[in-house]
Amino acid sequence: MPAAPKPETLAAFERAKGFMPTREGLALYAAAAEAGTLGLPLLEVGTYCGRSTILLAAAARETGVTAITIDHHRGSEEQQPGWEYHDPETVDPELGRMDTLPTFRRTLHKAGLEDHVVAMVGRSPQIAAFWRTPLGLVFIDGGHTDEHATADYEGWAPHLAEGGLLLIHDVFPDPEDEFTGQAPYRVYLRALASGAFTEVSATDSLRVLRRTSTGI
Ligand SMILES: C[S@@+](CC[C@H](N)C(=O)[O-])C[C@H]1O[C@@H](n2cnc3c(N)ncnc32)[C@H](O)[C@@H]1O
Repeated sequence: MPAAPKPETLAAFERAKGFMPTREGLALYAAAAEAGTLGLPLLEVGTYCGRSTILLAAAARETGVTAITIDHHRGSEEQQPGWEYHDPETVDPELGRMDTLPTFRRTLHKAGLEDHVVAMVGRSPQIAAFWRTPLGLVFIDGGHTDEHATADYEGWAPHLAEGGLLLIHDVFPDPEDEFTGQAPYRVYLRALASGAFTEVSATDSLRVLRRTSTGI
């Protein structure tokens, strides 16, 4: 039986603003709970308002590790005003720019999970450039252009320990199904083609791969 979040964790996840459906959330939690047993941090690229972070944080709490989540909090291309995924509530009224950090902090606080998360505010490649710590899990759910998805893969996959899990969200093999482009699908194909990763599971658009040898 895959590990499942506590009912209050699942309820907090379902209440939180964000994009991840429950089926994928359950798969994310199960992977994080397994990866946490490696005793290494679990890292997410793409915090947004903390919906998926709740599950990583809960799995981190259960396994005694820390969840790290990265976002510049200014939103992806498709979340900007005028685009399909824009939410006017995420705009800072003073600056007129998106700022999802306050909502994220409220979400984590209400879920009682703040102590299990380190939130890093900045651009993913800039943080990856100075990162030196091995990771038990890397969850890529940041920008969905080729430029961003590739930079996330190249920046973070090298830090994934042997046996660690690489998760990629919004993988749509059929262009008819895609909402935000197929860059995550291309990253998924590249990871498999590298020979360094083996597929563990696919739940809707969430893919879970395990690092089975070195390289990217
Ligand atoms: C699809 S949302 C993440 C959704 C979140 N995981 C959830 O489940 O609700 C993508 C997020 O990635 C962030 N983002 C996009 N490109 C980024 C980059 N280069 N560095 C850091 N954050 C980035 C955006 O600000 C946005 O909040």
